[in-house]
Amino acid sequence: MSIEIPEGLTELLQSFTVEVLRNQPGDLLEFALQYFTQLKDSETRGAAFGNDQISATRSSGKAVNFIDEAMQIDSENGEEESDDEEFIAPVMSRFIRRASVCAEAFNPDEDDEEKEQRVTHPKTDEQRQRLQEACRDILLFKNLDPEQFSQVLDAMFEKFFEVGEHIIDQDDDGDNFYVIERGTFDICMRVDGVEKMVGSYDNKGSFGELALMYNTPRAATIIATSPGALWCLDRLTFRRIIVKNNALKRRLYEEFIQSLPLLTSLELSERMKVVDVLSSKAFSDREQIIAQGDLADCFYIVESGQVRITMKRTKTKKDQDEEEVEIASCSRGQYFGELALVTNKPRAASAYAVGTVKCLVMDIQAFERLLGPCMDIMKRNIANYEEQLVTLFHSTITDTEEKTP
Ligand code: CMP
Repeated sequence: MSIEIPEGLTELLQSFTVEVLRNQPGDLLEFALQYFTQLKDSETRGAAFGNDQISATRSSGKAVNFIDEAMQIDSENGEEESDDEEFIAPVMSRFIRRASVCAEAFNPDEDDEEKEQRVTHPKTDEQRQRLQEACRDILLFKNLDPEQFSQVLDAMFEKFFEVGEHIIDQDDDGDNFYVIERGTFDICMRVDGVEKMVGSYDNKGSFGELALMYNTPRAATIIATSPGALWCLDRLTFRRIIVKNNALKRRLYEEFIQSLPLLTSLELSERMKVVDVLSSKAFSDREQIIAQGDLADCFYIVESGQVRITMKRTKTKKDQDEEEVEIASCSRGQYFGELALVTNKPRAASAYAVGTVKCLVMDIQAFERLLGPCMDIMKRNIANYEEQLVTLFHSTITDTEEKTP
């Protein structure tokens, strides 16, 4: 008995398999659903607009390319593409891509670095030093290897702004990512049609990453409130290096992040966004991770190892000398350092590494920008935690006082 293979089946499955291998989706079924839906959409739209390119595409066996930067129509070039060339999706709605962060896959294995033109803006030694200083604490650069970081610095260029100038307008398309060298800037957003100032930057930090990372319109307007200097990174270099790096990070931390009780209330796409804004930091035995009394801008999730949480107390009621008392310890999957963020007070306790410790560091501003005020998520855990902290502290004091003559 001979089985007839329908025309186009081999090519269809081949193209799908190629996309699966390129994107390495976590959920194969979900990916297949998206892939074939988008393929069908493209075909339907193509038919409606009389776009021959689509049927040509189908019959040549190449299918939808999920990689964002390639999603343009090669309208100037009417020539038939050779089979080896990458198919460029004919008509792909921006809206579809914006709807889901997960759908906007970026394949970290595809080494397009050689194909892409590297951008270099020459700088004097003095400029490079200033730039390096401004970028030292930028979270999105923290996981780059030295070569990637150097490419990012090469590509950055300086821009100056006067009071009142708009660096970014809400709803525009994203062009650059900005790192502040100096100056103050207001963050404004239209909420229910009313423009509101929702925050500001004061001589440090960065902005403009959201539109570039998730292909969304600009989420806020940024206005200079003093003369300022910014370092700008163009969209293509940002996507080639930072977004690619984030894709690797997503794979690395996907499983761990999914197992965290703190984040169980989040959607998968939200959890993946959380991965984008975290960095990993290692601490050696006894190293102080946070210090009681310090101001807080991040919290920590233990990736491996053990962390001691301690609080200072005076040795006796009369004595002014202080000692540190261990009140809790955290291990893999547990988090600490969030209390100060929720209460807006300085750090209530210190944290020290016991042995070698690796932590995921979550920048609170980035976390909030992505997920809205994080307080609600944190507050669910905080009541319990605060109570525990106070109980522990009191029992430790009582214990010690009973022993002290
Ligand atoms: P992007 O959307 O590309 O452009 C506007 C930027 O404002 C945005 O990225 C963030 O970097 C920054 N921003 C600061 N605060 C907020 C906020 N509360 N919501 C959204 N974006 C914010």
